[in-house]
Amino acid sequence: MSDPIDLGALPQDFAWGVATSAYQIEGAVAEDGRSPSIWDTFSHTPGKIAGDETGDLACDHYHRWREDIALMKELGVSAYRFSVAWPRVVPGGDGPVNRRGLDFYERLTDALLEAGITPHATLYHWDLPQVLQDRGGWPLRETAEHFAAYASAVAGALGDRIEDWATLNEPLCSAWIGHLEGMMAPGLTDIAAAVPASYHLLLGHGLATQAIRAVSPGARVGIVNNLSTVEPATSSEADADAARRMDGHTNRWWLDPVHGRGFPADMREVYGVDLPERTGDLDTIAEPLDWLGLNYYFPMVVTADLAGPAPHVRRVRRLHMPRTAMDWEIDADGLEDLLVRLTQQYGAQKLFVTENGSAYPDLVGPDGQVHDPERTAYLERHLAACSRAVRRGVPLAGYFAWSLLDNFEWAYGYDKRFGLVHVDYRTQTRTIKSSGRRYADIARAHRRSVSRRAA
Ligand code: IFM
Repeated sequence: MSDPIDLGALPQDFAWGVATSAYQIEGAVAEDGRSPSIWDTFSHTPGKIAGDETGDLACDHYHRWREDIALMKELGVSAYRFSVAWPRVVPGGDGPVNRRGLDFYERLTDALLEAGITPHATLYHWDLPQVLQDRGGWPLRETAEHFAAYASAVAGALGDRIEDWATLNEPLCSAWIGHLEGMMAPGLTDIAAAVPASYHLLLGHGLATQAIRAVSPGARVGIVNNLSTVEPATSSEADADAARRMDGHTNRWWLDPVHGRGFPADMREVYGVDLPERTGDLDTIAEPLDWLGLNYYFPMVVTADLAGPAPHVRRVRRLHMPRTAMDWEIDADGLEDLLVRLTQQYGAQKLFVTENGSAYPDLVGPDGQVHDPERTAYLERHLAACSRAVRRGVPLAGYFAWSLLDNFEWAYGYDKRFGLVHVDYRTQTRTIKSSGRRYADIARAHRRSVSRRAA
């Protein structure tokens, strides 16, 4: 039996959200002036994606967004986190804005507001315009500058309607998985590219934060990181060191600089690659945040692997742990621990769980319904962890379930289903899963408890 969700702990205006990202749901990759992104290139490279699937059509959200907003209404969510596709808005990477691309996000935003759903926009969820990759991509400083110009264009157009902006989603994936492990676009395996990419991503975050505030003074700007708890596999000193390195690689490298602590010295030594630092950059990167986003999926247990690539650790599989279809361990306590850490160690003033969710091989049953008790249990456990964290003083302002829809799960293609809503990719039929109904009930129960408290 898991702990109950302590709804009374959650703030009255707690955001009950769902999240998606552009390349994973939109499709319409060649419409209205959009240019290719690094994910178009990567997904069209044979062997990179399971089943050689691509985001060409995905959930066809570019055409079905009205239906998707209606689903959000049915789920009773109060906030929607989506990402803006840079190659739709600035197809050249830098330079002129493509009005038709921007129009899509204007229509979406207006309809969300009309439906009473607060838009939370993310400016970069991994879809760098391919033209910028061809010029060197994130390892180059100019990419950070182009990102800020693009952010300014989007916030300039939508800042009168969108208050909550995330600069980057999971820069760890862009830098480490995309440039070091080669499992995501642009598919490099080069630490000499990965480290400057990580630096310029964070510089881009700082520059974009300034650019958004310059055009939209009321904006609330944050960054979204995917973090994990990290434990050593044994009590050996070597494993304790491995855990410290993995914590540096996964958590501190991304948190310390934006909190004014610079890049962790121990990790600079581990990577052995000079940072492309210029005077003033660290201050730009540490531009104060209005909120911090945590994407939480799994804990890590690690052992030393000194012969392997930096950070010289190997993850250990704990056989007794329950897992999702991603083979990720389920451990809701990790979410509570991370929320508390961000509050106590980093002084976070406002936090969102910007993503949390689970993949299971869902099927539409003979009754036309999708019964997904495992996802429901996962959701309940993690919401209970959120409520415990709030009782421990965490300033948690909302939770965004990943994801609204089943979608293109990057290198895994369409096989891994994370949605609260099932998508039949042959017909594009959407079916709310039982976990989605449960989420709606929880959000409703919270709203009722708020009204009772107010009465
Ligand atoms: O689908 C991804 C999302 O794009 C970023 N965060 C993790 C999710 C599940 O892997």
